[in-house]
Amino acid sequence: MQKRTQYWQVERMDTPSLLHHPGIQSAATMLKKGKVVAFPTETVYGLGGDATSEKAVDSIFKAKGRPSDNPLIVHIADTDQMKSLVREVPPIARKLMSRFWPGPLTLIFPHEDRVVPRVTAGLDTMGIRMPDHPVALALLKLAGVPVAAPSANLSGKPSPTKATHVWHDLAGQIDAVIDGGATGVGVESTVLDISGEVPVLLRPGGITRTMLEEVLGPIQTDQNMEQPVISPRSPGMKYRHYAPAGKMWLVIGEGMGIKKKVQELADQGEKEGRQVAIMTTEEHKDFYRARWVLTCGKYRQPETVAQGLYECLRQFDQLGADWIVAEGFPPVGLFHSVMNRLIKAAEGRVIHS
Ligand code: TXA
Ligand code: MG
Repeated sequence: MQKRTQYWQVERMDTPSLLHHPGIQSAATMLKKGKVVAFPTETVYGLGGDATSEKAVDSIFKAKGRPSDNPLIVHIADTDQMKSLVREVPPIARKLMSRFWPGPLTLIFPHEDRVVPRVTAGLDTMGIRMPDHPVALALLKLAGVPVAAPSANLSGKPSPTKATHVWHDLAGQIDAVIDGGATGVGVESTVLDISGEVPVLLRPGGITRTMLEEVLGPIQTDQNMEQPVISPRSPGMKYRHYAPAGKMWLVIGEGMGIKKKVQELADQGEKEGRQVAIMTTEEHKDFYRARWVLTCGKYRQPETVAQGLYECLRQFDQLGADWIVAEGFPPVGLFHSVMNRLIKAAEGRVIHS
């Protein structure tokens, strides 16, 4: 059944002023009634629902078409909310929270069975984060409940960095969208498992490995994290993800080698009668010839590439590109997160130049 999806546009203001915004107040009331609302965070748009409401959590999985073994992140506005959610907040968590919250870091804790089991997909751990976005924080404060929120896209599609992306994927399936403009970081939060003996990086995101290691010393990486298929500790990473409808190739390497290989693959697609698109950066775009050459940001400013990545992946679908060749990046800093997403978008079609 189609829902009537409400829409509010919200100017960026500080959180205290936004507490009086009629749209955010209505959205918070909806959350309290078990409805589902898409809202901006600093990373990507989330689809929020009361994590203690069966009805809300069911609606989230249904609207996204999300596999039920993929757990949701619980969003909070206040660290006091942790008390009822987790068994304990160990010293390492306190350190990370004081350094990076609010911000793009999700921490995995053993939990207290306060939320409905589907939120954690039956696991004994739960992901929690405090987003660094005034709209998200105002909404969470007014709702007063822990809010489960996956990215507000159809399962398998790139995460939404603009309200128009949410609308495209989910209008008619969800109760409301709060439009707070384009998100800042552009890739999702970093997911760090601190439930075991040593911290393990499950998903690279807005907080880089170097930033974490400055606080924690060396951390482990989930072994399969960069693989296109299975990453057992982070269930979400095993699915087809971020993928455009067309066939995508990701070329890795350095210097001229990578550029030549990208062009070679594009030419091959052209010969086969494909609608070819190349994804590159401002600095490198003039090197290439193809039907479409899209730039996702500036090579010298990795944060712009992270910001533009998902919009770029969505554009390929809009254009009707069916053969996409993406130029890879060295997997450090924010580029590490970008490459993690590109490897999944390419579904394993990674070519060494
Ligand atoms: O930036 C973000 O994290 C965004 C915004 C909306 O906050 N949310 C987001 O949620 O990206 P989602 O559902 O698209 O991705 C959540 C990821 C998945 O890979 C999931 O498997 C992992 O977090 N995750 C959640 N709970 C987990 C748990 N208990 N153990 C391991 N991984 C978990
Ligand atoms: Mg997602």
